Amino acid sequence: MPCGVPLPPLRKEFLSGHASMHMEPAREILKSVRVRGREAEYLLTLEREDFSALYPRMVRFVLTVREGDRIRAVFRTNTFEYSPLSPLAAGTAAQEKAAEWEQDLTADPSAIFRNYPAGPALRPQEPAADLVIIQGSPRPDGNCGILTGWAAEAAGDAGRTSRVIYPHDLDIHPCIGCYQCYNTGTCVFDDDMRSIIDAVRGARLLIVCSPVYTNTVPAGLKLVIDRMQAYHAERTLSGGRSGQAGILFSVAGRKGGDNFTCIIKVIIPFFLNLGIEPAGQMLIDSVDAVRDIRLLPGRKEEVKGLVAAALSR
Ligand SMILES: Cc1cc2nc3c(=O)[nH]c(=O)nc-3n(C[C@H](O)[C@H](O)[C@H](O)COP(=O)(O)O)c2cc1C
Repeated sequence: MPCGVPLPPLRKEFLSGHASMHMEPAREILKSVRVRGREAEYLLTLEREDFSALYPRMVRFVLTVREGDRIRAVFRTNTFEYSPLSPLAAGTAAQEKAAEWEQDLTADPSAIFRNYPAGPALRPQEPAADLVIIQGSPRPDGNCGILTGWAAEAAGDAGRTSRVIYPHDLDIHPCIGCYQCYNTGTCVFDDDMRSIIDAVRGARLLIVCSPVYTNTVPAGLKLVIDRMQAYHAERTLSGGRSGQAGILFSVAGRKGGDNFTCIIKVIIPFFLNLGIEPAGQMLIDSVDAVRDIRLLPGRKEEVKGLVAAALSR
């Protein structure tokens, strides 16, 4: 007989060590020189920022060109960008770039200004939705699809807007671990992940709806989770909203609560890492036996109640 697994209380290990607060690193000016160019005078500065509170021994170097009050160019690099076999290191790369810019500013700075603009942060393209659901099953009309429909219906009943994201239909490059998002707060890949981050940033409630695949989340959802590192970087560097809530819905084909062990270990820290407070979970096992969770009495009401409560917080 299919059974729902009762909500396990959140364990302490999930609740600590996941601060995603705006970080003000300790700064040290390594270089500050005035450079006379053909058309203007520039101030070239190289700063060292200590991010070791975020990651062990992480240091970021920021090279800036100012013309009066205006920032004309910025280059950033951090120690985590350089993998063990790389012949380069962040500190030397920054110092070399500073020396190169100091020379180029005296002659022709146009390439620096063109290639390293200080540009404004990208703004969201779509209006924010109150509820964002990441539907992690590749089967749009499977059981996660049913849970998603119930959750969206609860939002509609409460007069809230909702948006569903189907990772498997989208163009999302896997994270390549370049850590360049900790330079700028954005990912080097310009793909559908930008709009997913915009949606999550704007939501008051995020629901992750995932089937258990090989004891963990399906591949498309894992892509989203890894690429959210850029949103974590954005929040770390620039700050972010608080008061967002997250709910986990999951279904497993097999019987037993232990089928959800990894899913919980993946999704709850994922919420916490983004400053999202876990506000409940519903884990439904033995789904392969029943095949359609609409046959489980009371489930729809439970899901809608959980979503309505989280949206009214
Ligand atoms: C590739 C694959 C791997 C799966 N691995 C597990 C598993 O490790 N444990 C489990 O309980 N169910 C597993 N299942 C069963 C699914 O969790 C189950 O069929 C679920 O209902 C699928 O969700 P959906 O209906 O939303 O698509 C797997 C299914 C597939 C297709």
